[in-house]
Amino acid sequence: MNETLERWSSRRAFILAVTGAAVGLGNIWRFPYITGENGGAVFLLLYVAFVALLGLPVMMAEILIGRAGRRSPMQSLGHLAARAGHSRHWRWLGLFGAFTVFCILSFYSVVSGWSIEFLISAINGDFVGQDAAQVGAGFDAFLADPWRMTFNHTLFLAMTMLVVAAGVTKGLERLNNLLMPLLYLLLLVLAGHAATTDGFGPALAWLFTPDLSAVTPTVLIAAMGHAFFTLAVGACALMAYGAYMPDHQSLPRAAVGVAVLDITVALLAGIAIFSVVFAQGLDPAEGPGLMFVTLPVAFADLPFGAFWLSLFFLLLLLATWTSSINLAEPMVATLQGWGLRRGRAAAVVGVTVWLVGLLSVLSFSSLADVKPLFGMNVFALVTTIPPEVFLPVGGALIAVFAAWVLPEAVSRHALDAGPVGFRMWRTTVRWVSIPLTLVVLISGLI
Ligand code: PFF
Repeated sequence: MNETLERWSSRRAFILAVTGAAVGLGNIWRFPYITGENGGAVFLLLYVAFVALLGLPVMMAEILIGRAGRRSPMQSLGHLAARAGHSRHWRWLGLFGAFTVFCILSFYSVVSGWSIEFLISAINGDFVGQDAAQVGAGFDAFLADPWRMTFNHTLFLAMTMLVVAAGVTKGLERLNNLLMPLLYLLLLVLAGHAATTDGFGPALAWLFTPDLSAVTPTVLIAAMGHAFFTLAVGACALMAYGAYMPDHQSLPRAAVGVAVLDITVALLAGIAIFSVVFAQGLDPAEGPGLMFVTLPVAFADLPFGAFWLSLFFLLLLLATWTSSINLAEPMVATLQGWGLRRGRAAAVVGVTVWLVGLLSVLSFSSLADVKPLFGMNVFALVTTIPPEVFLPVGGALIAVFAAWVLPEAVSRHALDAGPVGFRMWRTTVRWVSIPLTLVVLISGLI
């Protein structure tokens, strides 16, 4: 199995695939609304710090394990542990990762479905001349319609599982090549336009003047969870991609490139969105609808606004597509490792995620007040607990595995960063990333 595994065709293809996994709803939808709910600049500062101290080193740990194991996450973990004289039980970490991405994909697909709806509305010119209140009312009406939401959720998940069934390296490479530069360019235009509006100054102040007295365990946990979420780290999803990584490619260089790109996409989206929030007197803590209500208004000001808005939602949809393919991959790889054919594995994953996703759909209508845990309905639960608890827990265990369990020769070879780079990485993971993750998790639980 080791030898027949697919490979990305080049180093660039690998970097693009990881960027495709990282850049998605996390940057353009989740980042602005979580920032809005957690006080703006203070959240941003913590999130960037966590990306540097936790997200990046753990990302390298995760990809390194995949590259050293060259199997599905579960098999890689079990095999590498056994070879190093440790317990095969490490493989359950792969299953925990698969469970995490399962929860995440169940809402990811639903929210990506919102982008399909908005893409169609934008093409139809529905938003022309609407202000934020009108867009918001339209959005609420859409959320209250479970049939329309289910339709879009179904469409999106089918799109995802088709690519996954075909094998990710082939399908993804071409898509990523075109998509990332275009998305970046469009966000740049949008942020540039935001600079000419009244909301720009207040938006910058809100994003970049942190009030450190506002740091609370809630903000810390949210920022840490988002650092993991946005980089796609902690669920063995990048481990699955690492298994297809070519030899002779420095992992740290690839990882840093991805993180920088990921943060800049989030910042550009944040500037564009908060400029509208402040220009229109909206509430930054509006919640999951923030992007959907602000961006149609942002584009309305531009010449040919409907065209740009349609293009934006198209690119967003493609970006979420590449991320959701990454979300599905560890589950499919796991089932494949258990002997299922790839197509069948994709079908099983697709149908199960679809069913659970319906609970998120209904969280905006009939199940809105059904709150199974912590006073949250299903949508609130799946958008909070997996990113803020499961990913950091998984990330810490992945880090322990890479920095303590794997023999030095194995991790050093798979990191491919030279002796100094390796020592820097391992020291950071051992003495900064792992303890810091645990401290924040525990402070949050208390
Ligand atoms: N990083 C993706 C985003 O920002 O939209 C979401 C994600 C993908 C999270 C893969 C976790 C994961 F394993």
